[in-house]
Amino acid sequence: MDQLNQLIDQAKKDFASCSKLAELDHIKSKFLGKSGPITEAMKSLASLSPEEKPKKGAEINQVKKQIEVLLEARKQEISNLELNEKLEKEKIDVTLPSRSKMKGSLHPVMNTIDEISTIFHGIGFDVADGPEIEDDFHNFTALNIPESHPARAMHDTFYVNKEYVLRTHTSPVQIRYMENNTPPIQIISPGRVYRVDSDATHSPMFHQVEGLVINEDVNFTNLKGVVQSFLQSFFEDENLTIRFRPSYFPFTEPSAEIDMSWNDGWLEIGGCGMVHPNVLKHVNINPEMYQGFAFGLGVERLTMLKYGINDLRHFFNHDLRFLEQFK
Ligand code: DAH
Repeated sequence: MDQLNQLIDQAKKDFASCSKLAELDHIKSKFLGKSGPITEAMKSLASLSPEEKPKKGAEINQVKKQIEVLLEARKQEISNLELNEKLEKEKIDVTLPSRSKMKGSLHPVMNTIDEISTIFHGIGFDVADGPEIEDDFHNFTALNIPESHPARAMHDTFYVNKEYVLRTHTSPVQIRYMENNTPPIQIISPGRVYRVDSDATHSPMFHQVEGLVINEDVNFTNLKGVVQSFLQSFFEDENLTIRFRPSYFPFTEPSAEIDMSWNDGWLEIGGCGMVHPNVLKHVNINPEMYQGFAFGLGVERLTMLKYGINDLRHFFNHDLRFLEQFK
C-alpha cells in the first residue's frame, strides 16, 4: 500500500514538472503503461490468496484512478497555458491603421451600355450579341455591301485575313439575329467595333449600339419615336428632340443621320433607316410580308455628351483621376 501511495506522490511531481502536452503522454505511460508499476501490481495479484485478492485489487484500482485524475487535471492546465501563450504571442495590434480597400467600378462606357440596355429592355427589346471577329459575309455582303461596292470604302477595315475582319460596326448582329430568329424581332446589340482611325474624336476601337425591329407593320414614324424616347430617357430630358437628315447606308432605304438637339444646335449621334429589302432576302425574310427599321448609335458619343467629356481618348488612357469620377 505504501509503495502504491508513493506512486501517487511521484506522479504528482512528474506531472507538475512537465509543461508540454506531448511530453505528458510519455510520462503517463511510465505510470500506466504496459510495463508500468500499476500493470505490474495487477499481475502480482495472481499470487495472492482469494481473500486478499479483492482488497488489494480495489486498492490498486483506486491508485490508478487517482493517477488518471491527476493526469487529466494537468492536461487541462497545460492546454490552458499553451492557449494563453499563443494568444499572447499572436496578439493583434488594433492601433495599426487599416489597409484601405480599393474598390473598383464600371468603366463609364460600360455604365452607358448598361443604362442603354435597361432603357430598351423597358420598352420590350432583347439584347443580342455577336462576334468581334466577323466574316466578310456578315460584316458586308449580307448588309447589301457587295465586293467592290464603293460603300466598303466608307469603313477603314482591319483585316484579319481575306475572309475575316474586326467588325467595323454592330450591324452584322442584325444578320446573325435574323438568321436564327423569326419576326417579330425587337433587339439592340451593344458592343465593340474597330476601324483604322485615331484622333481626338476617333479611336481604333469604339462602341456602338445597334437596334433592329422587324414586324409586319413597322414604319419610319415608329423609328423616330423609338429613337427619340430612348434619348429622352437617357438624357433625362423630356424636351429633347431629334431630327433626321437624309443620308445613305447600303443596308437601309431610306436612310437618315440622327441629330439630337443640344444647347442651341444639333449634334449627330448615329444613323438609321428602314431595313433594305435585299438585307431581308439574305436572311430569308419575305420583304413583301415584313418591314423593319434599324439604327446605330455611338456609345462613346452618348457618354461624352451626358458627362461633358471633351476628348474621346480619356476613355482609353486608364487614368484613374478620370475614371474615378464615374464611381
Ligand atoms: N452601321 C453604321 C455605321 O457603322 C451605322 C448604322 C446606320 C446602323 C444605319 C444602322 C443603320 O443600323 O440603320 O456607320
